[in-house]
Amino acid sequence: MDQNELKQLAANAAIDYIKPKLDNKTIVGVGTGSTTNLFIDQLAELKGWFAAAVSSSDASTERLRAHGIDVLDLNSAGPVAVYVDGADESNQHLQLIKGGGAALTREKIVAAVAEEFVCIVDDSKMVDLLGAFPLPVEVIPMARSHVARELVKLGGDPVYREGVVTDNGNEIIDVHNLEILNPPELESRINQIVGVVCNGLFANRGADVLVVASADGVKTLLPE
Ligand code: 5RP
Repeated sequence: MDQNELKQLAANAAIDYIKPKLDNKTIVGVGTGSTTNLFIDQLAELKGWFAAAVSSSDASTERLRAHGIDVLDLNSAGPVAVYVDGADESNQHLQLIKGGGAALTREKIVAAVAEEFVCIVDDSKMVDLLGAFPLPVEVIPMARSHVARELVKLGGDPVYREGVVTDNGNEIIDVHNLEILNPPELESRINQIVGVVCNGLFANRGADVLVVASADGVKTLLPE
């Protein structure tokens, strides 16, 4: 089974997981990325089972609307019952690295608002220690060099993701070779650097449920 087939399995399993929780008032939070795109395509089959979606990126909003799904502004949406999104890495505590698709800030906002965060991955994303995937950090453009110097002090090797502008008009630095022994602490520390908008560690608010697809089938994990 290739990685795309595993992503499809995870997306299908997320639909099965959330289906019993939906009613005509439910707002579904929707993430960003190739796994989430497969989820969106399945969610379209459930139109009428839920009220509307809130979205973590312009790309996901466009895909949802193309399926005829109503997408609300988060400020006027009311409670978000469930948020479904992929990840670049997850550990056994369901602490994540996200932001490979540069949508980390809006993803973190929707995750913060959601009552339940269901993360969907194939098993290649499971790691013992976060950080093999370079940590994305969204920065205000004029602060890029300052933030990069501060990230070097934390032991990382920052690389500017050239040509990428986030949906918020900012830039991305990918931080290689970080030793992430305490993800919640590092998440908070990076957020203290002036000019950082958000970083891709989702540790202080990790996933509540992790749906992992492998060649052996789909497992649903809770934080250890
Ligand atoms: C986007 C993300 C994605 O969830 C993450 O990059 C995983 O993407 P994919 O499902 O394409 O592997 O955080 O900012």
